Amino acid sequence: MQLWGGRFAKSADQLLRQFNDSISFDQRMWREDIDGSIAWAQGLANANVLTQVEADTLVDGLRQVAAEWEQENFTIAAGDEDIHTANERRLTELVGSVGGKLHTGRSRNDQVATDFRLWAKRAISAVIEQVTEVQSAIISSAERHHDTPLPGYTHMQHAQPVTWGHWIMSHFWPLERDRRRLQAAFDSADELPLGSAALAGTAFPIDRDFLATQLGFSRISQNSLDAVSNRDFVADALYACAMVGVHLSRLSEQLIIFSSQEFGFVRVDDAYSTGSSLMPQKKNPDTLELTRGKSGRLIGLLVGLMVTLKGLPSTYDKDLQEDKEGVFNAVDTLAIVLPVMAAVVETLQINADKMAGQLEAGLLATDLADYLVKKGLPFREAHHVVGAVVQAAEDRNIEITDLALADLQQISDLFSDDVTAAFSVAGSLAARNVVGGTAPAAVLQQIEAARRCMTE
Ligand code: ARG
Repeated sequence: MQLWGGRFAKSADQLLRQFNDSISFDQRMWREDIDGSIAWAQGLANANVLTQVEADTLVDGLRQVAAEWEQENFTIAAGDEDIHTANERRLTELVGSVGGKLHTGRSRNDQVATDFRLWAKRAISAVIEQVTEVQSAIISSAERHHDTPLPGYTHMQHAQPVTWGHWIMSHFWPLERDRRRLQAAFDSADELPLGSAALAGTAFPIDRDFLATQLGFSRISQNSLDAVSNRDFVADALYACAMVGVHLSRLSEQLIIFSSQEFGFVRVDDAYSTGSSLMPQKKNPDTLELTRGKSGRLIGLLVGLMVTLKGLPSTYDKDLQEDKEGVFNAVDTLAIVLPVMAAVVETLQINADKMAGQLEAGLLATDLADYLVKKGLPFREAHHVVGAVVQAAEDRNIEITDLALADLQQISDLFSDDVTAAFSVAGSLAARNVVGGTAPAAVLQQIEAARRCMTE
């Protein structure tokens, strides 16, 4: 059944159909299309456009159509251009000509916008749940190793000691921001366009607030021309997904480096690694590499949609049919990437000895400067003095901690025997007991704060 044949002398060319049809992918919104139509049928009855008996017949028929989808025995017919056409065609087969009354005062333009928003709200909620799983895995790793030291890096150069708990939690907060971005995308989608009809608004006295309540939207759109072409919620969802991709990519990159032979700080569980067809000894972190790689796709999907949207006049244009596959793909991508990442983090083995083995004394240079500051030296001068200490150690090819007190005192008379306390990794970590700092006690507080955020 074609919805628009009346004014055409010829039927559509096979190629046109192939090009024009969206049923292959938008059938994914069958449930939302049924939900929207059930609300619309009742809205028409409330407005006395349909009798209650007619509306009930339509609703019963729509439920039968839904059952067919549910039981996977809905048969798509040749003329079913999209999910809206398919459901209405099947409804009319089931209930007879009253089926033709369902589309009164409605257009596929406000119908598709409504269906897609309903779908997006459900899909975004699912992604939020999946992000939460990764966050939980990070928290448990952080808790297990809240006081395990490793070198902290800037510019990928040894900087200061940090704790594993602190390091892994640095990947929790970006995901927490992602959850907020996803929530913002959900709020963006949470607006009812139904009642906008093709572009000018429906000519029947439909109570749009009733429709919004029926369908669980928190507000209704205020301009019908905008409402049928507003796809900001899709861009918002894709942006949030792309940022999740970027954050998981950074975590992956760092774990790939940490799992290399040179570092050996972590070991990715065998269940999430693959081997080489040629080199028997190889164990490759493919899951992390794929995660890093898929961030490219997620970013591309956002850019693709924005380019599609940027030249469109207001109201519906068929370009808008290009809005769905990208976000379907993004959501499907994250539906595998996020659970895999949660599992990789959950099963990640931490090699504390390897990390400790990299904690050379140079990482404590800042602590040595802080020691001098506590003796009254301005920090800039202390920085300079410690620079001289580092150089003296380098000249003799030893660590700064191996210099004798007398050597240190030659550089500054502020050094005394209590200096050895400044040369301790545990002391360095414990000193950074500020909110957001790397001290084990601060990390435990951070974990509590993270838990509170997640239950908010
Ligand atoms: N399949 C279309 C889409 O996904 C539905 C809306 C079609 N509206 C129209 N006037 N051709 O955007």
